[in-house]
Amino acid sequence: MLITLFLRGMEIHIITVLPELLESPFAHSILKRAQQKEIVQVHVHNLREYSLDKHKSVDDYAFGGGAGMVMMIEPIVRCIEHLQAQGDFDEILYMTPDGERFNQKIANQMSTLKRIAIICGHYKGIDERVREHFVTREISIGDYVLSGGELAAAVVSDAIIRLIPGVLNDETSALTDSFQDNLLAPPVFTRPAEFRGWKVPPILLSGNTPAVDQWRFEQSLERTQQRRPDLLDE
Ligand code: 6GU
Repeated sequence: MLITLFLRGMEIHIITVLPELLESPFAHSILKRAQQKEIVQVHVHNLREYSLDKHKSVDDYAFGGGAGMVMMIEPIVRCIEHLQAQGDFDEILYMTPDGERFNQKIANQMSTLKRIAIICGHYKGIDERVREHFVTREISIGDYVLSGGELAAAVVSDAIIRLIPGVLNDETSALTDSFQDNLLAPPVFTRPAEFRGWKVPPILLSGNTPAVDQWRFEQSLERTQQRRPDLLDE
């Protein structure tokens, strides 16, 4: 695609203590192809490599006591500053359940950025001073707690990458996704047209494209009213 010839790809740098956890999500299907096409580069950085002590520690007890370890400031800052020396970040994200709730609108915004860092939290979280002095946006993927930020970072990266021009083709187009216009997607069917007596809605077999589009829009609206009326208020 022409647009990819003059736009340099996006860079996503993920900082984690569990780099292995992030291998598979980027090694298949659309995310794999986006990297092969050089539309995006995903770099996973092992935080332990930025630890200065001989045990390669990345966490320590919380000041003030209490259960749970805290991710230390020094390895994270060394890693971020190492990466900043190679270029500025448009956004330094911290994945945390107390962050702003991620949605399609934020994905759309982030898909236009050129260079993003994502810090994956673990244990009781990261030293607050990293959040105060380096993090530019804090993101949660929903109101439940995960064992670490890695899976959330993969979710956010996937949602962003698929929106970059050239990643999807007509068959996988994001324009018809749920949420893209605050509507849920309509139901879909494929062959056979009848299975155990269960028929596909006849309009879909009519070949009448405007009528099919109208039907899909009505189904989207009805589905959204029934399942997610909150989306229609926005
Ligand atoms: Cl970003 N991290 C963790 N650990 N848990 C979460 C989350 C993030 N978003 C929802 N739950």
